[in-house]
Amino acid sequence: MKWRMGDVVVMTWPKCGTTWMQEIIWTMRNNPDLNNPLADMSITSRVPFIDMDMFMLAETLQNPNPDNPLLSDFLKVCPGANPADGVQLQLATVMPDPRTIKTHIPLSLLHPTILDNSKVVFVARNPRDVIVSLHHHYRIVKSLNFTGSMDNFVNYFVNDKLLYGPYWLHVQEAWAKRHHPNFHFIFYEDLKADIMTELNKLNKFLGLNLTKKQLCNVADYTSFNRMAARDKLLGPKTEDNPMFFKEIVRQDGGFFRKGTVCSWKEKLSPEMVNKIDQWTTKNLREIPFRYSL
Ligand code: A3P
Repeated sequence: MKWRMGDVVVMTWPKCGTTWMQEIIWTMRNNPDLNNPLADMSITSRVPFIDMDMFMLAETLQNPNPDNPLLSDFLKVCPGANPADGVQLQLATVMPDPRTIKTHIPLSLLHPTILDNSKVVFVARNPRDVIVSLHHHYRIVKSLNFTGSMDNFVNYFVNDKLLYGPYWLHVQEAWAKRHHPNFHFIFYEDLKADIMTELNKLNKFLGLNLTKKQLCNVADYTSFNRMAARDKLLGPKTEDNPMFFKEIVRQDGGFFRKGTVCSWKEKLSPEMVNKIDQWTTKNLREIPFRYSL
């Protein structure tokens, strides 16, 4: 995919607050007065997730069913297009400027000119909460269907066996770029602690000059409760989404599970915390993660 001048790329490892940041940036750039009717469309059709095509089953692409939540907005935005040629890729191509793009691909695997023409916003989250959130995700998503224990899952994480490869490498590459003028590094925990301060920094980084009132609009519109209540943000609400296991969603929550900084306290044993912390000390010693607010 060709980057365009003015693109903003939301770059994260899964479960670090990607969807939140997608909605924050899209709203800041396209809907700061909360009057843009396009805001009702799913987040993926407003902020294409360029690596998602590789997860779509060949049968879904070859026999597109317009009721499939991943395809319905695509077919509206790209009428007559063939999903097998890449749903997200085609969405990104027709997307008018200013374009916001989501990726979990690390910096070193994207085109080396990305920071020449585009701005990257990177969100990192403390590894304990990432693991808990990702374990939940692997359990509710039918195509992932993880049935192992939390202990198993921690082992997969610390041995770098999960999708998208080593979290530490992803974060380390980003951290090394944190002073680049087109790169903005944010912690999920800082967004939770003081959203207005972080929105002000983003306002400056993106060169938007939004007013205080507009930034308040964004903060409110992208709060956990407001996002969780929006019907079409991720396609159908999680409870009704055919991509999720309904029973687990009912028991443990949907995509918008907790949205907090310390849910690891409820889910990880002291032994698991110890294992994760050893991994963090070995790989990400210099990153100032926070584990509570
Ligand atoms: P939890 O599972 O801890 O609740 P991603 O979008 O990268 O997949 O990240 C998902 C995580 O971000 C989930 O964490 C989700 O609840 C949380 N999240 C989504 N929207 C949020 C918001 N507006 N505020 C805070 N957390 C949010």
